[in-house]
Amino acid sequence: MVLLAHLSDTHFNTRGRSSERAERVMAFLADLPTRPDAILVSGDIADEGSAEEYAQARSVLLDADLPVLILPGNHDDRALMREVLFGQEPSRQPINQVHRVKGLTLAMLDSSIPGKGEGALDELTYTWLTDLLAATPAEDSVVLAMHHPPVPIHSTVVDPIRLTNPERLAEIVAGDDRVVGVLTGHAHVPITTVFAGKPLAVAPSVASFIGCDWEVSAPGHVPIDYAPDPSLYFHVIEDRRLLTALRPVPMGGWLSEPLE
Ligand SMILES: [Fe+2]
Ligand SMILES: [Fe+2]
Repeated sequence: MVLLAHLSDTHFNTRGRSSERAERVMAFLADLPTRPDAILVSGDIADEGSAEEYAQARSVLLDADLPVLILPGNHDDRALMREVLFGQEPSRQPINQVHRVKGLTLAMLDSSIPGKGEGALDELTYTWLTDLLAATPAEDSVVLAMHHPPVPIHSTVVDPIRLTNPERLAEIVAGDDRVVGVLTGHAHVPITTVFAGKPLAVAPSVASFIGCDWEVSAPGHVPIDYAPDPSLYFHVIEDRRLLTALRPVPMGGWLSEPLE
């Protein structure tokens, strides 16, 4: 069994609130009796994509004693992410990464388009994924992760800026028995649905909650809510099956006694 903790959309900014929420979630994960095999953070790490925000993200997210796997979203800057967060050369090429653990291949795809809100998987990324799958053992399970959901999810905010070219990805997902599911962020609301016949889990945001289109009161209204506690997903991958559990993390701390 593989246990993944899945955070998304931390939107680190210079005001400190996002940082406090991410710190709380990381502290919760650090205290878990069963350690996750890895922590995935599925994009929109920074709010403005500044070096200062990535420095914050580095100190909060990369202080953990287990692998923290970070992929970019539409608010991120590839070059600064590489330089400040990963300590790498500041290239603007897609940030595609793989993590292998206990028979799971987690392929993290860069669905961002520099300077744009919507997403796409470019030719370099599709070639990278095809080569990766060709080199992945037949007995492995494969999970694909990226920032942008590949299907509409009744989000007035995010549907117009979802993944714009999901067709080739759908063929890969449907045609490969090893692929057990797809994980994304971007929507700031926990949603599970199906993509190409496999589970699609859209993770909640650590920073804020965005209501679905039935919460929109007038054209152009953005139903964003900063009051709910941060939350995350846990994913269990075993026997070629993906199980997803939602976990809100109260900012006030752990409550182990029932309320009177
Ligand atoms: Fe976001
Ligand atoms: Fe996003």
